[in-house]
Amino acid sequence: MEQPQPHVLILPFPAQGHIKPMLCLAQLLCNAGIHVTFINSHHNHSRLIHSIQALSCYFPTLHFESISDGLSEDDPRSLPSFPDLVSSIKSVTKHLFRELLVSLNRGSGPRPPVTCVIADGIMSFSIDVAAEFGTRVIIFRTFSACCLWIYLCVPKLIAEGQLPFGADDDLEREIEGVPGMEGILRRRDLPHACRSKQIDDPLLQFFVNETLAMTRASSIILNTFEELEAPFLSQIARLVPNIYTIGPLHALTKSRNRISISPTSSLDASLIKEDRSCMTWLDSQPLRSVLYVSFGSLFVLTRLQLLEFWHGLVNSGQRFLWVLRPDMMSRDENARDVIPSDVTLGTQEKWCIVGWAPQEEVLAHPAVGGFLTHSGWNSTLESIVAGVPLICWPQLSDQMVNSRWVSEIWRIGLDMKDTCDRSTVEKMVRVLMEEKRAEIMKSVDQFAGLARDSISQFGSSNKSLQKLIEDLKIL
Ligand code: UDX
Repeated sequence: MEQPQPHVLILPFPAQGHIKPMLCLAQLLCNAGIHVTFINSHHNHSRLIHSIQALSCYFPTLHFESISDGLSEDDPRSLPSFPDLVSSIKSVTKHLFRELLVSLNRGSGPRPPVTCVIADGIMSFSIDVAAEFGTRVIIFRTFSACCLWIYLCVPKLIAEGQLPFGADDDLEREIEGVPGMEGILRRRDLPHACRSKQIDDPLLQFFVNETLAMTRASSIILNTFEELEAPFLSQIARLVPNIYTIGPLHALTKSRNRISISPTSSLDASLIKEDRSCMTWLDSQPLRSVLYVSFGSLFVLTRLQLLEFWHGLVNSGQRFLWVLRPDMMSRDENARDVIPSDVTLGTQEKWCIVGWAPQEEVLAHPAVGGFLTHSGWNSTLESIVAGVPLICWPQLSDQMVNSRWVSEIWRIGLDMKDTCDRSTVEKMVRVLMEEKRAEIMKSVDQFAGLARDSISQFGSSNKSLQKLIEDLKIL
């Protein structure tokens, strides 16, 4: 009997850091001749329309659909709206996803019926919906493996009385009972929601429940590579034996796209329009002299934090390129208006501010010598691949542990968690860019090499991708 043609339905959580790696996977599957339908929220679909048009031209087997995320069109969908978004997705998107699956299975146009769903690790409702149709689900976690392992251990930490912290607020205290993290993991490195006094904190419950739900899927995909996170991969494999580690996905995708794609072709699926003027500015800066500063797509700063960073950066004397998103502060405040005008005078040639940068290109630019980041997982991987050392200032979820591993295990940067006063910022920048640069660069170069090896022809991530493609083809 002839095998049905594979058709994968990809469902990301509707946020930048989730869409980007899952869209990379979509391209890799299309390159292997698999039909892919990628689902965006209506809101994101309209913001991505240029990328969608470009991608549809390059990849004939890539199709896009959009469904509602349940929020009103004028909702900013910024970090404070996260709980509303999560609950509206559960109540609205779930049903729409089921309807879409029914309609796609009826067969329309060139697309065969859906043979597999690849769903975001925080969209676990898809496991139950797909089960109604007997369709297999693979869960894609956009976080690091070390964070995934912590979430899996949270119920044990609660049972042992290590969570919640209770009256003792000493964040330096070591956390015991997370195998593989002995002697390294402190309370302050746990996902931020673990600091809640309430064990039924909705955010903590959400992440833990979504993580546990993942163990009901047939397999998981992680955007990481074996050489980076092997100890946690083996721990996770005891609960979900079938893991595909196919990271760093952005680099694997670029190496596999056989067509030549110009950097401005908008395939990167940015929800915010890139300001490429910073590339011209970088061209005029000395080698490795610029600190790139970006806190990802969701991070929100207070006025005080913004000012402390500003003064710390200016006082460090280093050149810097800072991404200040239009929605980075409260709705009625623009970050650029907060920067004191007297300080900007006379120093302007040393810095550049944009609302959104072409980050991968920025990190690959020879003028960039360091990255002050919120430690989002995509940013961390992009920096590793580009061989750029990090200063981490995490805010939530996986960022808290990513930054700890950056500084203590991989030794590719510094962890500035929980402080951002101007003197600390200034000191950290000097340490990274000057005092400890040579020492840190040894590890940075080593991990950049390992990342490159992992996506090479016989590398671990490439082999894992080939296995995933084979498995999808015989489903
Ligand atoms: C969040 C979490 O922090 C992350 O760990 C999780 O895996 C996904 O959700 P986010 O805050 O968006 O993600 O950060 P990050 O994972 O670093 O992703 C940001 C992406 O936006 C990166 O791919 C980066 O290249 C891109 N970006 C950022 C730009 O293209 N331009 C910018 O100016 C800033």
